[in-house]
Amino acid sequence: MALQQKGMHGAWVSRWTFIMAATGSAVGLGNMWKFPYVAGSNGGGAFVLVYLACILLIGVPVMMAEVMLGRHGRKSPINAMRDIVAESGADPRWSYLGWLSVLAGILILSFYAVIAGWALSYIIEMGSGELRGVDGDAAAAAFSQLLNDPGRLILWQTIFLTLCVAVVMGGVKKGLGIAVETLMPILFVILLGLLVFSYFKGNFSAAANFLFQFNLDQLTWRSVLAAMGQAFFTLSIGMGAIMAYGAYMPQKANIGQTILVVAFFDSAVAIISGLVIFSIVFATQGIEPSAGPGLMFISLPVAFGSMPGGLLIGAIFFILVSIAAWSSAISLLEPCVAWLVETKNINRFKANIIFAVIAWVLGLGTVFSFNIWSGYQLFGLTFFDFLDFLTANIMLPLTGLLLAVFVGFVVNSKIIESEMLGTHPRVQLLWQHTLRYVAPISIGLIFIMGLYEKFS
Ligand code: TRP
Repeated sequence: MALQQKGMHGAWVSRWTFIMAATGSAVGLGNMWKFPYVAGSNGGGAFVLVYLACILLIGVPVMMAEVMLGRHGRKSPINAMRDIVAESGADPRWSYLGWLSVLAGILILSFYAVIAGWALSYIIEMGSGELRGVDGDAAAAAFSQLLNDPGRLILWQTIFLTLCVAVVMGGVKKGLGIAVETLMPILFVILLGLLVFSYFKGNFSAAANFLFQFNLDQLTWRSVLAAMGQAFFTLSIGMGAIMAYGAYMPQKANIGQTILVVAFFDSAVAIISGLVIFSIVFATQGIEPSAGPGLMFISLPVAFGSMPGGLLIGAIFFILVSIAAWSSAISLLEPCVAWLVETKNINRFKANIIFAVIAWVLGLGTVFSFNIWSGYQLFGLTFFDFLDFLTANIMLPLTGLLLAVFVGFVVNSKIIESEMLGTHPRVQLLWQHTLRYVAPISIGLIFIMGLYEKFS
């Protein structure tokens, strides 16, 4: 099995396609929508520093572990984990990890599609000129009008999921591969264009200060937990997406180097998006960086609505966000689809429809949590906040911790050797030690302290 070059779903045409696919998965709402508002509500600089540390010390090693497992198994996460557990002679219960990850994937996709729907609908709102000249209050009112209209939310959520199905249906080469190779370059060009725009038109220095001034006394365990959750969420680790993409990776590609490239792109996009959004926030009166999930949807219309030609740029911005969300959501769908195709011999189209429908139905919970169910709370959180917290801050880090221990201590060393071929022995040792000690201990500590602080 170690020499298997391809699974039944095919493979990426090159290492570069893998990089684009993994970057496409990583770069999404997490970078453009979530990172700025989470950084904003956790005080800025200090949060960013911890976040970057988590990416490097925990995220990258765990991501490498996921890719390695996927590439070795050449199957969907559930089946790859089962094979590797058997091959390593490990306790069969380790294979539950595959299930845990797919469950997290469906939960994330369910709310992800709703938020991505907001971005889609804002392309039209911006482009149609309706938001011309709005002030902070009017923009906030327009946003809450959207949130209060379940019908509109459901319409856009449905459109978004349909777009995802359209890609994933096409399979690895013709669907996912072509989509990421076209979408990612467009995304980078638009993002750089917006960076230039915000440099000249926004309050760029205030944004840079906010993001890079490391004010350590603002840091709490809760914000450290949020930073770690954000690192997992943004790198798409802890739920099988990267494992599934690893299964289609060329055998020759060096895992460590490739993942560093992906993590670099991902962090760069988060920081650039933060700079763009905060430049605009700080140049606009009446909007706080700590505005929460609405930050992007309220601040940008105000800023763009008052500039000549701004509405067009605003529409382009939301096209960018939608593309990023799209190339991420397909990676949430793929592991489930691959699993169903492998085990139940169902064709890709049907498998896609089944999971899209599950995500759609679950997504109604998120839709309603903004309107008719907004009064209902679980542990003091609305359904959407609860799902977000449960997945990003609990399920992803927990799976990450278990994966680190699994690869660090349990997986047969022959498997590791064969996948890490060509890696400098010292680098490999460093990676293994990180997986054995640094990652589990820091995840465990942040977990306990963060949860304690949140619920005490
Ligand atoms: N990383 C994506 C983002 O930042 C979200 C995402 C896609 C994801 N696939 C994932 C998060 C898998 C966790 C696990 O928007």
